[in-house]
Amino acid sequence: MNWEVSMPSVLMVCLGNICRSPLAEVALRHVASCQGLDLEVDSAGTGDWHIGHPPDIRAQEVASRLGGLDISGLRARQVTPEDFDRFDHILAMDSNNLTVLQAMMPQASAAKLSLFLDYVAGSEGKSVADPYWGEVADFEQCWYQVTAAARSFAKSLD
Ligand code: 4NP
Repeated sequence: MNWEVSMPSVLMVCLGNICRSPLAEVALRHVASCQGLDLEVDSAGTGDWHIGHPPDIRAQEVASRLGGLDISGLRARQVTPEDFDRFDHILAMDSNNLTVLQAMMPQASAAKLSLFLDYVAGSEGKSVADPYWGEVADFEQCWYQVTAAARSFAKSLD
């Protein structure tokens, strides 16, 4: 008999994988490690424009300044069909990306696909605003939002 219990795995998804989902990835990894929770966390984008790129410099700055986290080593990748087998939870940052993921999801996939903010009481159905075309303040707001959502999500796994 195999007694091995695999740890839950989570994929954070946005459009470019350079702003919201890398911040969500490191926020959740940080929350999990603070709580002694074994979690595999990754992120990806539905678009292909930034494959291989590091996170947006403003995302790097905010993660460092507000979270004390160095995210410069992350590299963007695109969601693949295999992700729907590999991850237990696929969390979309916004409703457009949720729609793209729903269309991609193989019927046999057991992944739980949802909006990240569905895990935050009072924010169900809402999207993490895309800060890409905005200011540093929009990245700060994004960081606070994904950090709060990461805590709520981690609680939901208890
Ligand atoms: P993200 O933000 O989806 O949070 O990584 C964006 C990054 C790049 C673009 C759009 C949104 N873009 O159009 O290149």
